[in-house]
Amino acid sequence: MSYFIWDSTYDIGVDIIDRQHRRIADYINDLHHAIENNDVEEVYSVMERLKDYTFDHFSFEEQLMERAGYPLLAAHLQVHRRFSAQVEELSVQLYGGTDPMSVARKVRTGLMRWLLQHIKDEDQNYAELVRKSLRKESGWVSATLKRIFGSVDHPV
Ligand SMILES: [Fe+2]
Repeated sequence: MSYFIWDSTYDIGVDIIDRQHRRIADYINDLHHAIENNDVEEVYSVMERLKDYTFDHFSFEEQLMERAGYPLLAAHLQVHRRFSAQVEELSVQLYGGTDPMSVARKVRTGLMRWLLQHIKDEDQNYAELVRKSLRKESGWVSATLKRIFGSVDHPV
């Protein structure tokens, strides 16, 4: 059983970003399965991938907003920074002797809640401007995906 099933009401209408958000939700479900199976090794493995992917996603999203000339970029960056610091803190706990299952449960619940709230409160706000900008930016998008994720296909 999945922890969370995505539905289209969480889409912001920017295809590349919606796919990345869904990917983060997939990782959260992977983490849930590792917790349910009491699989400590898998918890560490998913947590690494989830953290890397989320940070790469932030980086891509920030560059997309910047490219589109989004006026609330600075505030959005701050929200990302604050959340990244929390993720780093949990990561320190994970490797610092705290019970990995309890850290994983915190990440599962907290990240899912944060992601859905962030999509609704902050990501929706840039959607229209970024959509307009993307219509003329396909070359830039491919190059930036490749630079951040190492592959154009990776986030799909
Ligand atoms: Fe964001």
